[in-house]
Amino acid sequence: MSVSSSSSSSTSITLKIGIVGFGPFGQFLAKTMIKQGHAIRTTSRSDYTQLCGHLGITFFRNMDAFLESDNDVILLCTSILSLSEVIKAMPFHCLKRPTLFADVLSVKEHARDLLLQVLPEEADVLCTHPMFGPESGKDGWKDLTFVYDRVRIRDEAICSSFLKIFGSEGCKMLEMPCEEHDRLAARSQFLTHIIARTLSEMEINSTSIDTKNFQTLVKLKESTVRDSFDLFSGLFIHNKFAKQELENLELALDKVKQKLLDRMNES
Ligand SMILES: NC(=O)c1ccc[n+]([C@@H]2O[C@H](COP(=O)([O-])OP(=O)(O)OC[C@H]3O[C@@H](n4cnc5c(N)ncnc54)[C@H](OP(=O)(O)O)[C@@H]3O)[C@@H](O)[C@H]2O)c1
Repeated sequence: MSVSSSSSSSTSITLKIGIVGFGPFGQFLAKTMIKQGHAIRTTSRSDYTQLCGHLGITFFRNMDAFLESDNDVILLCTSILSLSEVIKAMPFHCLKRPTLFADVLSVKEHARDLLLQVLPEEADVLCTHPMFGPESGKDGWKDLTFVYDRVRIRDEAICSSFLKIFGSEGCKMLEMPCEEHDRLAARSQFLTHIIARTLSEMEINSTSIDTKNFQTLVKLKESTVRDSFDLFSGLFIHNKFAKQELENLELALDKVKQKLLDRMNES
């Protein structure tokens, strides 16, 4: 971490941030972090050497060298389904000092439990979920919600500098226990995805007589199915509240259908 003052009133803290998983969301976050002046290095299952060259980021093919590169923060941006495999394969003995591990998985209890189980005891743990992505955040992060849970924090300076990345972009910062996040997200984000995927199965598309509300549905379908199926299935498999919401949706559809049939039979 290095501190620099550009004027008497503004002090900026530059962090060395190592991103694990340089897929769509890792790349999206990296762009803003670079803009803010942080030093980004990354590693991923696939080879992103060329893309990283264009972005001015060091890409490590080797996890030992990545961990030895002395990061203030290791930011886990892998898929929900692969987090367990990825962190269990990390050679933690290569870390040069106690490090803050933060994750951005869209499910929080699963991430928290894994990190507490696998990381060395001296590592700090910050579980986060930016409630936006490359599509909704393409014009900036102002007023977009950033949820976080300070699960095990001893180095306050590093943790608050990391959170400031989002706060300074204008995010609505919301501290919330992981379980509470998952309960709310199952009823909001997971429900959004399941409805969008259902509309996609039905192959809904714009017609010549679209209402505004139907256009909203088509847009919802198009933007949601751009997220990977890994992400969608992770929302279901690793959020203990999601199964109940799927059952609620099925029951609700049956009820609505029954109300229509009852009315038809009355007339
Ligand atoms: N997209 C969003 O809007 C959004 C918003 C908030 C949070 N998130 C969270 O951010 C994370 C990344 O999301 P995403 O949109 O980039 O897509 P994703 O499909 O959820 O994850 C893609 C990333 O996971 C890595 N990966 C997948 N399978 C792997 C395996 N078996 N072993 C090692 N690495 C593996 C990929 O590595 P390679 O690319 O190297 O293959 C890539 O970096 C997820 O945890 C998601 O819940 C996403």
